[in-house]
Amino acid sequence: MTIYDKIKRTLQELGVSDARGVESLFAELRQAAEQERAELISRGAPNQPQRERLCKALRDRWLARKGGFLSQVDEKWLKPAGKELKPVVGRQFNELRRATSSLEYEKLVESLPFEIEGVKQMELPLASGAGRAAPRDLTLPGFHRPLGSLHPVTRMQREIEDVFLRLGFRIEDGPEIESTYYNFDALNIPESHPSRDDWDTLYIDAKTVLRTHTSPVQIRAMEKYGAPLYIIIPGKCYRHDNPDSTHSPMFHQIEGLAIDEDITFADLKGTLDFFAKMLFGEKVRTRFQPSYFPFTEPSGEVAVSCFVCDGHGCRVCKESGWIELMGCGMVHPLVLRNGGIDPDKYSGWAFGLGVDRFAMVKHDINDIQLFFQGDMRFLEQF
Ligand code: FA5
Repeated sequence: MTIYDKIKRTLQELGVSDARGVESLFAELRQAAEQERAELISRGAPNQPQRERLCKALRDRWLARKGGFLSQVDEKWLKPAGKELKPVVGRQFNELRRATSSLEYEKLVESLPFEIEGVKQMELPLASGAGRAAPRDLTLPGFHRPLGSLHPVTRMQREIEDVFLRLGFRIEDGPEIESTYYNFDALNIPESHPSRDDWDTLYIDAKTVLRTHTSPVQIRAMEKYGAPLYIIIPGKCYRHDNPDSTHSPMFHQIEGLAIDEDITFADLKGTLDFFAKMLFGEKVRTRFQPSYFPFTEPSGEVAVSCFVCDGHGCRVCKESGWIELMGCGMVHPLVLRNGGIDPDKYSGWAFGLGVDRFAMVKHDINDIQLFFQGDMRFLEQF
């Protein structure tokens, strides 16, 4: 008689009347459960649905409330057992429960390997060493780990930095949360200047702003290093500008500053012309037009002849033949003085450009927002 037949009969019918007999019956049953489990695991399952079906079938066979082997044992062995045998049957029954808990569905599924063309996979221990790891399915596609790349604005920034590093400039930076003194006052931007207005400037409190440009670092660097000074200052800036195709509330600037004895506007023109040629090609020409910034005198706007159409007019230069590049000028004597530098001995030039706008021009991108949306389809092109 097999153990499966035995669980259909009471202990009395089986002629078991002492603890030893009970123990050996339960031992036989535990062994059967373990054997069925081992067989299932050694067989494996070729796919997930089958895996789940086999595990559920084995679980139900043993543990189903109605008709499962354990409930049969309860009915036939435990409940009808006489007073003397009841304690030992109860103990053994509990042990059987513990032993068959490995037939619980989740545990079974976890331990059941897939079988692939007759080859069983290894079960790898978890890194933590905690128990068994879920078996690996070699048929699943591998993990795709895309190679990262630099953001187009970062690339543009580095390209610009490289030109100036070659010319002997150093890179300097400063805080994005800035005092109104450095952001405005020290740069000769009076209270009445429109950029101090709430519309342009994001105020943290009456004396603290998110810097609206990289120019405050001019003063900080003058204070820190004195003259002579040749630096570029890349960094994030913030303005109360509504996002549109050419404006972002956060954008990037690069500031250039050269201070030395006998620095003239010709140095500024020569340097920026060299810079434009390095960036957009030998053929481009630069154009300087008068402009106004409170911290430079005289001030100028620099444009470059369109590197796409060579100045004839096209979509990139909006048919004008020219592309606006940046603001610039000779450092205002008051600003030098505010930075602790003697304007009678030293002079200097400065420029400030928008890196995002440079990248737009360079790559013919018509919407600045694309830089900040994190769309992989866009970013993957760089
Ligand atoms: C300035 O910020 C001056 N500090 C530049 C300067 C420095 C002039 C040194 C002279 C000497 P402006 O406000 O024009 O200037 O800004 C410079 C550039 O920042 C703009 O040409 C533009 O490219 C970029 N920019 C300004 N606001 C935004 C914005 N909301 N989104 C994207 N780019 C912007």
